[in-house]
Amino acid sequence: MARIFSGIQPTGDKHIGNYLGAIRHWVAGQTEHDCLYSIVDLHSITVPVEPAALREATLSLATLLFAAGLDPAKSTLFAQSHVSEHMELAWYLNCTATMGELRRMTQFKDKSGGQESVSVGLFDYPVLQAADVLLYQAGLVPVGEDQRQHLELMRDIAIRFNGRYGDTFVVPQAQIPPTGARIVDLQEPTKKMSTTGGTEQGTLLLLDSPARLRKKVMSAVTDSDGVVRADPENKPGITGLLSLLSAIEDVPIASLEERYDGKGYGDFKRDVAEAVVALVEPLQARHAELSSDPGEVVRLLKIGADHARSLAVPTVELVRERIGFAPRG
Ligand code: TYM
Repeated sequence: MARIFSGIQPTGDKHIGNYLGAIRHWVAGQTEHDCLYSIVDLHSITVPVEPAALREATLSLATLLFAAGLDPAKSTLFAQSHVSEHMELAWYLNCTATMGELRRMTQFKDKSGGQESVSVGLFDYPVLQAADVLLYQAGLVPVGEDQRQHLELMRDIAIRFNGRYGDTFVVPQAQIPPTGARIVDLQEPTKKMSTTGGTEQGTLLLLDSPARLRKKVMSAVTDSDGVVRADPENKPGITGLLSLLSAIEDVPIASLEERYDGKGYGDFKRDVAEAVVALVEPLQARHAELSSDPGEVVRLLKIGADHARSLAVPTVELVRERIGFAPRG
C-alpha cells in the first residue's frame, strides 16, 4: 500500500479550487492508500497572522476536511505544529538545499514581490514542505498544479540527501489530477483561484451561501463571441468555466462543448452555478453538524498527531544517524 502525504494551509478561506485540485482526491485516496494529511500551520506563519485567527482557522479547517469526507478511521489528519519533527527535519534539509534553488521558486517570487522585508521562513517554505513529505517516507503527494515546482525541489533534495548519506528517503512523486488541478479566478481567469492573489468576487468559497455562489458564477467574466468553446488565449473566462464544470462532473470538455452547442452563456452559467451548489451543499450541511462539537475535532486531531509522530520519530532517528551525530548514549 503506497503512503500518501499532502498538506493544506489553515489560513485563508478554502475555495472550490482547493476542493477540486486536492481535497476531493484526498478523500478518494483513503480507501486504497495509507494516507496522512496535515493542516500546515507552520507554513501559515511565514506571513503575519493573528494568534486567535490561526487557532480558529486550524480547527475550522479540520472541521471542513472531516465534513468533506476525510474519515478518521481511514486517514490520519493532524496539525503540523503538533509534530515537532517537521521542524527538526527541515533544519537537516536546510543544510542540503541551496539558496539558488530556493530563489528560483515562483511562489516565493510572487509572494515576496521582490521585497527584502519578507520573513526567512517564507524563503525557506519549500524546505519545510519537503520535510513534511520525506518525514513519512510518502511515495505520492496529491496536489494541484501550483505545487508542481515545490514537488520537483522536494525530489531533488531527497535525491541529493540519499546520494550524500546513503539511501534514507523515499523519493516522492506528485499526483496532479487531469482535471481540476488549476481552477481559475472567475473575474481574472488568467490567474488561479486563490484567497491571497485572486479577486473576492471571482473566488467560490466552500462555505459561501448558495445565493452568493450563484451570483459569483452568473457574474463571471466571459466574452462577446457567444459560443461555449474552450480557447485559453481568446476566451479565458469561458475556458475557465468549462474546466470547472468538467472537473465537477468529471466529463471531458469536448462533450460539454457539444452539450452547449447552440446555447447561450446564460444557460451555460446557470448550469455551472447549479453544479457548484449541488457539490458544496452536502459538505456545508455536514460542516454545520460537526461545528456543534469542536471538542471532538480537537480529540481527533490529537489522535492524528500521536499516530503521525509514531511514524516521524524513526525517520528522524535514521537521519540523525546518517548525518553522523553522536549517539545520545
Ligand atoms: P494550499 O493550502 O495553498 O492549497 C491546498 C491544495 O489546494 C490546491 N489548490 C488548487 N487546486 C486547483 N486550483 C486552484 N486554484 C488551487 N489552489 C490551491 C493546492 O495545489 C494544494 O494541493 N504548500 C502547500 C501546502 C503544503 C503541502 C505540503 C502540500 C505544505 N506541505 C506537503 C503537499 C505536501 C499549500 O500552500 O497549499
